[in-house]
Formats: sequence, structure tokens, C-alpha cells
Amino acid sequence: MLTHEQNRLLTEVEGDAPFGQMMRERYWMPCARSAALVADGAPQHVRLLGDNYVAFRATDGRIGMFDEACPHRGASLVLANNKDCALRCIYHGWKIDVSGEIVDVPSEGARAESFGKGIKVNTYPTFEGGGLLWVYLGKGDPPARPPIPFLDLDESRVWVCRSVSPSNWFQGVEGTIDSVHVGTLHQSWISGYKDDDSPNPSIALTLDSHPRYEVEETPYGMKAAAIRDLADGRQYLRVTNYVMPFVSLVPAGNTDREGTVFIAVPRDNHEHMLFWGFWNEDGPRIEAERDMTSGTRDPDNWVHFEEGPNRTWGQDREAMAGGHFSGMTGCIVDEDLIIQASQGVIQDRTREHLCSSDMGIGRLRRRLLDEIAAWQNGLLAIDGPIPEKVRPLDTITDGDQPWRELV
Ligand code: FES
Ligand SMILES: [Fe+2]
Repeated sequence: MLTHEQNRLLTEVEGDAPFGQMMRERYWMPCARSAALVADGAPQHVRLLGDNYVAFRATDGRIGMFDEACPHRGASLVLANNKDCALRCIYHGWKIDVSGEIVDVPSEGARAESFGKGIKVNTYPTFEGGGLLWVYLGKGDPPARPPIPFLDLDESRVWVCRSVSPSNWFQGVEGTIDSVHVGTLHQSWISGYKDDDSPNPSIALTLDSHPRYEVEETPYGMKAAAIRDLADGRQYLRVTNYVMPFVSLVPAGNTDREGTVFIAVPRDNHEHMLFWGFWNEDGPRIEAERDMTSGTRDPDNWVHFEEGPNRTWGQDREAMAGGHFSGMTGCIVDEDLIIQASQGVIQDRTREHLCSSDMGIGRLRRRLLDEIAAWQNGLLAIDGPIPEKVRPLDTITDGDQPWRELV
């Protein structure tokens, strides 16, 4: 349980809210799928931390990212023409090149090319990695790239989709640290893995008993381990690696994927974008997930939200009667986003009752509250070297070596 003030500190990101300010200053934020940005194609609306931006790919492939509002009189540049390495506002035709320079103001006649020279357009540093466009919204030099393992993989080895969820971003992050829900909420999906005779550790193993949870705080975030003692004396170990403030790298179990990534990025206090997907650094290509994109779902709008008059988000009671546990039969991540929306737009954590399996949630909150307090004093909560890449872990060990040394 949190105090009202703690809940506000962890959830609010707009305006002067400390967490939003810290995100701006310290972190790269993923804001769109790279594939959604086509040279000379439709500019993309981006909302982060309560502010609106436009991102586009210019004729030559470069990325431009500006405030959404046209510097003339505020029309949306998402509606602009994207051509000749520039956006041209459709209201009065101001043309802004990809570097943010205003190069044509047609109504000014002889001064058309010079008129805009003194007018500042806010532009933002970006990079593309892991199938995503990342932006830095802070004022200083951008930080190092996040230590996640798939930023440099080509598109055959990483697949990520985007959803927009009507719930606060921190509910999204908490869901990824809350490993005990996997065996409950997702049981009908996970049970499909039970018959798999793969020699790899199986997600299904996590379903049948009560793992021991252990957490290690790190300079970049924390590692959350679920440890099960097996009958033969060995241990089944699952470690989620959390990279502050919104990335969770989760073991993918006995699938042909190396890991599952969840990135819950705040659009504002009330909505977040979930980037969800898979990667393989060395294993097979991500064929199955790439095929998913040619199905009925839009990879830029993966989970659709229709709350409905009874607030059931399309839950299928007939499927439940037939044995499906959650009644959310479309896709496993539907279950996550719907259950998070059901907690309320911003969950009231002053009224919850945590139990022993919420240990990771409690440590996550403490870790972030410490980080905000340190940031307000110009410090880091845990100072120390950050590896170039961190990974999740899913393995059976003989227990001789501490798990912290394995991941
Ligand atoms: S508002 Fe964009 S050109 Fe006038
Ligand atoms: Fe989940």
C-alpha cells in the first residue's frame, strides 16, 4: 500500500511532476515503430509525458521530430505534406525542413525564404533501434542508449508491436514485474506449452507451485528472480531484468524466442503505449511473430479497447464456460492490457492489500521512489557501471552458483 503522495509520485508524469521531469532528463523514450515511418509517408502523432509531437521519415530516410503544433498558428503537423525532406503545413503552407529550419513562408512573397529564419522550431534527438524510434526530450546531452540486447538486431530477429492503453504507465510496468500473475491470468495461453517436450525449461513449470522471489537492485534498475526447487535437487530459475524506467526483459520460456520485451511508455497521466514483442540474438528468426502482422491485427494498434457498458472489454463468457480462464481469447497481451485498464485509469494504491507474492512490486516501488528522491538532489540512487546489454534468464541450475552471478 502506498500513501496518496507516493502514488502520485510514481504515476504522474505531466508538467512539473518529478517523474516526468526525470524521464525527460535521463532516458531515451521509444515513441513509434520504425516501420510506421515511411519515407515521404504519413507523419506520425506522438504523445509523451502529456505533450504532443510529430515524427516523420524524410525523402532521404532521415527522421524529423518536432512539436506537433505548426509554429505559425498551431495547426497539426501530423496533417502536413511530407515531401522533399520537409513538412509543409496544409493550413498556410509553411515549409519546415527535416532539421527544423523554416525554409518557405509562401504568404511573404519576396521574403518567403528568409521570413522563418529567426523562428525556432523545437527538434529532438532520435535514434532507431530494435524496430523502434527512440527520442530524447531533455535539454542536455542525450544519455547512453538503454542496455537492452536487441537494439542492433536486424528486423528478422526482433518483432515489436504497439498498443495504446487507457491506463497509467506504472500499471503496465508493475504487470511485468508481477510474475505470479502469469500462472493465473495467462493460464489458458500458457497451458498450450505444457505438452511441449522441448528440453528447454518450460514456462509451465512455474504454474504448479509457489516460487521463492528474490530481487537484486542494480544501477540500471533491478533483477527479479522466481526460483523453484525441483524434485531432483536442482533449481528452475526465471529472472526478469528491469531497466528503468519502463523496460522489462522477460524470459520467453520454452518458445523459440530468446526473450519477451514490454515497454510501458507514458503518453500522459492517463494513457500509456505498450511496445511488446520478442527477439532472438542467435536463435531462429522471428518468423511466427512476423507472420502475425499479416493477420487481422495492426502492429501499430495491436490491442483494441472497447470498454463496453458493463466494463468487460469484450470478455467472452461462452469461452469461459468452455474452459478458457480469462475469456480474453484474442492474444495473450490482451489479458494484460485489459486487466490493467480494469484497475482504474490510475490505480488507487492507498486501498490495496499486498501479499507475499507482491514482494517484487514492493521493491520496484521502493527502487523508483529512491531514484526520484536521488534525482531531485542531482544524484543516482545506485551509482555504478551499467553493462552494455542486460538480458533475462530462464534456466535450470544445480544451485551451486548464486543466481545473481548467472544473469
Ligand atoms: S498554421 Fe501552419 S502554416 Fe499556418
Ligand atoms: Fe501478463
